Amino acid sequence: MTASGGGPGAGKARGGRFSEGADPVAEAFTSSLAFDRRLWPQDIRGSLAWARALERAGLIQASELAQIEAGLESVKRELESGRFPFRQELEDIHMNVERRLVELAGPVGGKLHTGRSRNDQIALDERLYLRDVLGHVDEGLARVQSALLAQAERHRATAMPGYTHLQRAQPVLLAHHLLAYVFMLQRDRERFRDCARRVNILPLGSAALAGAAFPIDREALARDLGFTAPTANSMDAVSDRDHVIEFLAAAALLGMHTSRLATDLTLWATAEFGFVEFSDAFATGSSIMPQKKNPDVAEIVRGKTGRLYGNLVAVLTSMKGLPLTYNSDLQEDKEPLFDSVDTLESVLGVLPPMLEGLTFRVDRLQAAAGAFYSTATDLADYLVRKGLPFREAHEIVGRTVRYGLEKKKEMGELTLEELKRFSPLISADVHAALTVDASLRARAVSGGTAPEAVAAALAQARALVGKDSRR
Ligand code: ARG
Repeated sequence: MTASGGGPGAGKARGGRFSEGADPVAEAFTSSLAFDRRLWPQDIRGSLAWARALERAGLIQASELAQIEAGLESVKRELESGRFPFRQELEDIHMNVERRLVELAGPVGGKLHTGRSRNDQIALDERLYLRDVLGHVDEGLARVQSALLAQAERHRATAMPGYTHLQRAQPVLLAHHLLAYVFMLQRDRERFRDCARRVNILPLGSAALAGAAFPIDREALARDLGFTAPTANSMDAVSDRDHVIEFLAAAALLGMHTSRLATDLTLWATAEFGFVEFSDAFATGSSIMPQKKNPDVAEIVRGKTGRLYGNLVAVLTSMKGLPLTYNSDLQEDKEPLFDSVDTLESVLGVLPPMLEGLTFRVDRLQAAAGAFYSTATDLADYLVRKGLPFREAHEIVGRTVRYGLEKKKEMGELTLEELKRFSPLISADVHAALTVDASLRARAVSGGTAPEAVAAALAQARALVGKDSRR
């Protein structure tokens, strides 16, 4: 399809400068409409505020402002109802909205672009968009935290093996393990919030690159649109996409976290671990093996992390070495941004119900918690409390474990007589120090896995989630 209306100037950005129409292949190639059309609510919000700024600056009359506002409202209604006539030859959402405004409101619509460029317009639209998105992401993260917290509350007394190197290491509370993710996600929330501080600066008024040539009150415009302040440098303002990259980086990091959670859960759901069962609603069957129940939801959460990383690298790479100021390479930031936004939305949507549907197998967890010399460190700590330097205690317990392995006896199954052979410091109180409960209780430092430390962490997590979701 060639430019509608046929004439060389039919695409408004080409105007009188061009004597030939655009090649349809070039036109399709350069058009961003297919993806930036989703920015229409922000584009209209920004245009309404710009029209008000023009009026405050005396550049349009109050009656003209009213006509532009009414026109933009009509455009908005068309967009909302799906009746808007999108035209690819008008390149992007900005030109589409503006052209339609002129059609609906008449020539006065042509005054809207006074002192404005699509360069500061797209910079504004993206910031408005990110501001909306960041609010949703924060709420989504709080919901994931709440689901983890609810399971943690339920399992504040359930012991399980804690792992290092994926080898059984020491007993921990399941609540402690789950809370690790709550605090991890809290850092994600903080990163997104920090990103929001830099998103919330107004680029409008920077025009193409050098600043608007009309006396626009940018402070008032910033207040009107809810921004903290106007940008300090018009050249930076139209070429800056740091906030997009910061968002993508925070999303990538969050994806790394959710992928780790997904791996813990899928491992725990294996027959080998047998620690947890996914609800039927959040698992799938095999097309060939009738007995199978697959944790597909968790796996796909983990798999989505790849595109979150890819989107970050894509935008960083598109921007590397770009000269100031605006370059059309910047148009390439949108698809990765939107893809990460959509990915986050789906991941944050599916995680809370998936987590709520988990059934932990307390018997299996507790049995595993005390198995395979999980309290060996506690025997060493016992000897230290009796005055032995830790290094010597470590050596003694190592020999004790080797002896136990040879005799096929667990730590707690070694008799007092057997244990005494390894150190004269060992006496009748030793067995009480080697239980899972004693091991847990001993780790009462703040941030540790002792029941009272975990109770404090639960309270802290509740406050975080409660406070943050009230924002
Ligand atoms: N579609 C463009 C983008 O996404 C909008 C700005 C276009 N500006 C320009 N001078 N071509 O970045």
